[in-house]
Amino acid sequence: MFQVDGRSVVKLGAEDVPGLRAFVERCHAFMTLVYGAVEPDSAEQILEGLPPDKTLEDKFVFGLYAEGTQGLLALLDVVRDFPEPGEWIIGMLLVDPDHRRAGLGARLVAAFEQWARGQGAEGLRLVVQEQNPEALRFWQRQGYEVTGLTLQETPRRKNIIQLMHKPLTS
Ligand SMILES: CC(C)(COP(=O)(O)OP(=O)(O)OC[C@H]1O[C@@H](n2cnc3c(N)ncnc32)[C@H](O)[C@@H]1OP(=O)(O)O)[C@@H](O)C(=O)NCCC(=O)NCCS
Repeated sequence: MFQVDGRSVVKLGAEDVPGLRAFVERCHAFMTLVYGAVEPDSAEQILEGLPPDKTLEDKFVFGLYAEGTQGLLALLDVVRDFPEPGEWIIGMLLVDPDHRRAGLGARLVAAFEQWARGQGAEGLRLVVQEQNPEALRFWQRQGYEVTGLTLQETPRRKNIIQLMHKPLTS
């Protein structure tokens, strides 16, 4: 896959569910801000959630583990070729709260973008909830631009979301 800070990013699967659950719990403030709660099956939803007409073959959930037994430091999930061939959509980027504001998110995104470009991605999309201005600022700093505004309905809450895009020109 690719590396961040000299450590390999791994593709997460069913065996990572306990670690992912603990990580999502540590990130409860974000989960509550966006979804209204940490659902008991949040880890499974991150691993298996898909946009319409896509299969798990096109989904990658990347995790960066800390050395030793500290667990996950960061997570990024993406679906390739959605909503059209060449365009990939990032579902979630999460950095452990104790490791934020140290450039880790920026380094993970840069390494991921380079890998995705090598896999044929031409553009990256994502959404940011209006109540999360820090994330908007983060993505703008990584070169993503707001392309529109729409409504997102989750089981517990409705969010106004900003659609963002970055062309991956080489
Ligand atoms: C958004 C998120 C992924 C950013 O991850 P991060 O590792 O903190 O990102 P960075 O450290 O690269 O950048 C964050 C801030 O830290 C600052 N920073 C980076 N290195 C720094 C350092 N060494 N010292 C002080 N500040 C630093 C950056 O300039 C940036 O500041 P700004 O937002 O005021 O412009 C993280 O905050 C997070 O997981 N949030 C919850 C989930 C979320 O909102 N995800 C995005 C939507 S899907």
